[in-house]
Amino acid sequence: MRPLWTGIIVTRLGRRLDMATSRPPTNLLVRLDARDRSGLQRQICASIQRAILDGVVVPGTRLPSSRALAEDLGISRTTTLLAVQQLQAEGYLTGRRGAGTFVAEELPDDLLQQRTARPRRMMRHPALSRRGATLVAAPQAAHRLDGPPRAFRIGTPGVDLFPVALWWRLASARLRSITPTLLDYGEPAGLRGLREAIAGHVQTARGTRCDAHQILIVAGAQQGLELISRVLLDPGDRVWMEEPGYPGARSALLGAGARIVSVRVDPEGLDVKAGARRAGDARLAYVTPSHQYPLGVPMSLPRRLALLQWATRARAWVVEDDYDSEFRYGARAVPCLHGLDVDGRVIYVGSFSKTLFPALRLGFLIVPADLVDALVAARTVADQHPPVLDQAILADFIEQGHFVRHLRRMRVAYRERLEALTAATDRYCRDALRVRPTRTGLHVIADLDGADAARVSREAATRGVEATALAAYCVGREKPANALVLGFAAVRPEAARRGMERLAASIEAARRR
Ligand SMILES: Cc1ncc(COP(=O)(O)O)c(C=O)c1O
Repeated sequence: MRPLWTGIIVTRLGRRLDMATSRPPTNLLVRLDARDRSGLQRQICASIQRAILDGVVVPGTRLPSSRALAEDLGISRTTTLLAVQQLQAEGYLTGRRGAGTFVAEELPDDLLQQRTARPRRMMRHPALSRRGATLVAAPQAAHRLDGPPRAFRIGTPGVDLFPVALWWRLASARLRSITPTLLDYGEPAGLRGLREAIAGHVQTARGTRCDAHQILIVAGAQQGLELISRVLLDPGDRVWMEEPGYPGARSALLGAGARIVSVRVDPEGLDVKAGARRAGDARLAYVTPSHQYPLGVPMSLPRRLALLQWATRARAWVVEDDYDSEFRYGARAVPCLHGLDVDGRVIYVGSFSKTLFPALRLGFLIVPADLVDALVAARTVADQHPPVLDQAILADFIEQGHFVRHLRRMRVAYRERLEALTAATDRYCRDALRVRPTRTGLHVIADLDGADAARVSREAATRGVEATALAAYCVGREKPANALVLGFAAVRPEAARRGMERLAASIEAARRR
């Protein structure tokens, strides 16, 4: 005889337990969340649907009665009855007179489609925490690279030009002379020698002063942003985020439960007055003052001073993401905001992803002295410390002068790549695309005429070209400029020409639609 309930429970360890009993217990079917504002009836419907979808209850399974559900959940029977009736009306459950309520043998098509489309990974973890669900939904979580660099990828530097042989020489020298200390647990803040090398570099290159003690080595800017958000924010805290802005930062802030207040960026950078009007009591502001991401404008001096004044008044933190400011093509270096901070409100985020290569996963924070211990403690909880050998190689690379030489070489190469992109735009897209004048960074903004940027972006994808619409960096209601964001650092001149030819065809196709 078929058991009345045949269910498979996936335990926390991922083991499957085959169960046969008369009815599934209520707590496997329904979980109520007091913080969920969607209403009890809706939560019950959604939970039972999810149990069916995840295979916790299979077709033909008999459910507890609405009275038993109400008693187990401590809510009114009317609510459970209405929920069961709704699921019957939608075809998920069937009622047999005198016998009870059962999972329908034939499930609605849309549910079956979801069921086959859902990845197994999701089925194994049906009950994420609120924070877990937020992280899964964060924009950065969906970020995937589509194969090797191609025209006009954003964010990837010229990895084809990296001096691999030199790096290999430094790595083998370190390995040949390795000591047990380098194999043991390292310093949680990062290798002392690397922190000293970075302190020396930022003083001359970025116009700021700091002690090596204030430097914390992290696994790229992203880990730094996540660490800052986790240590300095409570769920519900308001934070300013540039609009348009960097999805990686937005994701880290959302992951900490922050409420994001989008603050517009104009030709002078983040509009501090608008931020203060909308959320004067925010706990933190995230900015890219040297080269706003993605618009590329530098923040003006009056705005920088206004931002620091606001931070002092509000006792808020300012997170300065200085991701690509080393790359200038004839433009004067803009000293970083950190250099103007006399009140210890600015946390500087640096990354070696653009200056060297992203797979290195090394970056650094410069933090106010009174925050060092807290951030180091949190970092230890997360992953103890960064890989020691990679840090040692990087320290040698900087100390022996290779870093500065590499940056110099890359500025020349990137200038050439930028010129190639601009020339190709003039040649193939003269009437449709206008590249905004750019003398810094690794990408440009190109205004489109006569075709919708999102549509062009889709057409370009079908032709193997990456052309991201500016709107992809916006979450607010204000409509952004009809423009594309085009990376040039990873694109050789010849590839830029071929890519632009295909982009011209994409614009044509988008215009015809
Ligand atoms: C604005 C911004 N900040 C930081 C980074 C660097 O992130 P990471 O060091 O984690 O690679 C990027 C990379 O694309 C970026 O665009």
